[in-house]
Amino acid sequence: MNMIRLDAKAGRVELERAEVLVLTHCEGDGLAKMDAAPFDKLLGGALRDLIQSKEFEGKANEVLLYHTQGKVPAKRLVLVGLGKKKDVTLDSLRQALGHAVKRIRQAKVETFVMALPTVIPKSCTLVEVVQVIVEGAILGNYQFTAYRSDKESPNDVNGMTILTPQKSQLRQLTEGIRRGVATSEATVLVRDLCNHPSNIMTPTRIANEAKAVAKEPGVSLKILEQKDMERLGMGALLGVARGSHEPPKFIILEYNGTKKKEERPVVLVGKTITFDTGGISLKPAENMEHMKADMTGGAEVLASMRAAARLELPLRLISILPVAENMPGGRAMKPGDIVKTLSGKTVEVQNTDAEGRLILSDALTYAQRYQPSALIDIATLTGACVVALGQFAIGMFGTDAKLKEAVRKAGLTAGERVWEMPLWNEYFEQLKSDVADMRNIGGRGGGMITAALFLSKFVGIYPWVHLDIASTDWSERERAYIPKGPTGIGTRLLIQYLIDRSL
Ligand code: BES
Ligand code: ZN
Ligand code: ZN
Repeated sequence: MNMIRLDAKAGRVELERAEVLVLTHCEGDGLAKMDAAPFDKLLGGALRDLIQSKEFEGKANEVLLYHTQGKVPAKRLVLVGLGKKKDVTLDSLRQALGHAVKRIRQAKVETFVMALPTVIPKSCTLVEVVQVIVEGAILGNYQFTAYRSDKESPNDVNGMTILTPQKSQLRQLTEGIRRGVATSEATVLVRDLCNHPSNIMTPTRIANEAKAVAKEPGVSLKILEQKDMERLGMGALLGVARGSHEPPKFIILEYNGTKKKEERPVVLVGKTITFDTGGISLKPAENMEHMKADMTGGAEVLASMRAAARLELPLRLISILPVAENMPGGRAMKPGDIVKTLSGKTVEVQNTDAEGRLILSDALTYAQRYQPSALIDIATLTGACVVALGQFAIGMFGTDAKLKEAVRKAGLTAGERVWEMPLWNEYFEQLKSDVADMRNIGGRGGGMITAALFLSKFVGIYPWVHLDIASTDWSERERAYIPKGPTGIGTRLLIQYLIDRSL
């Protein structure tokens, strides 16, 4: 996919020469309050007619393209609705831009000018507004065409200029663009990594992707191979990888953006199963292809690392990816097998499809060596998460109220909301095993909770949050700025958390 070139400029909308000029409008506002009002006279009252006839009302996600036929310097106007003014949020703007960019693409236009909306959502800064405009445009423009022979489609939007009437705002615009580009490019990376099929995106390929990220200034990389994992005693990760011919990888990226040596890092851990067949506890065939995206968590912590480095955030960050393919090979783990985790705890594997918590248990134990100030894992962990939360909330668990609150707030800002679930120890009796320290499934009921509780036994004393993204990692339909298939949801939440922490 072509990335969109972005810039900011100061000027008056009615003088702007553009292929397309995008203007937002709130539902119920009359012509006078319209961002496009300066055009109405020049266009002979056309906008007034559009509003009065209710052909365009400004409803959320309504889009209208209008040819100006030389009456103003801009060739076309695209009016996009934000809904009622009192309900406008940052996400309304993202969605508006997602719809606008699709309409522009349909019109086979490659560049456009976005007039900064005069309506700014409550208690938001200009930088945030610009950031979400950029996110909506880049993410709404996303297409995965790597394997299509007809990919040279000429209609891909490749340039956006954000226009403000005030020169004094240009610096904030530039900062908003910088942040929006970092968060969106990270999401695009995640979508790409998850769209590539598992025959391409193998654990070895993931390691190569990590090497590419490690080229960013300030980032270093360590990859543990199978023999290293054996030496350390990562029995859970090795157990999962046994059924596959693909060798597992354990990837650690480190970014240092602060001079303070003693600063304790944020550690991100992402489940990276390049394909989850379920192993010997084989999954049903229907929709199994979605399991190529069972590496979303890992892709997200990798992309967050790249974004932190590109934004030069003043913090220490570690990203850890335990990577394996879950296959039912001749040497695969079998139900009832017992593995010894890196922590020393033994686990009876009653279901080989509950592999995410196994690889994460070793990764979380490993993470403790960095004495994290915050430890966040993100994983497509349970089908139970999908059942409980549907498509619009990430399941959150955690041991630290402050960290949970910071993650909740970042999710709200990013439009990738979390919903907290209980981490009560009562549920732990469901994880008792007759033959080992614990078992890897919790039986009927509370499947998302027992999975999180399993993980909690491997995080030590560190402030920890677990995010179950099985609900949101894959979309059944295309939305304003979310494509069908892998969504990358969670990426911008993580980066927003890192940005908030740095400010
Ligand atoms: N990767 C799946 C979870 C998943 C399901 C992600 C649907 C995205 C969409 C995970 O490894 C899994 O298979 N979990 C099992 C656990 C069960 C055996 C306790 C599940 O949820 O069915
Ligand atoms: Zn599984
Ligand atoms: Zn899985």
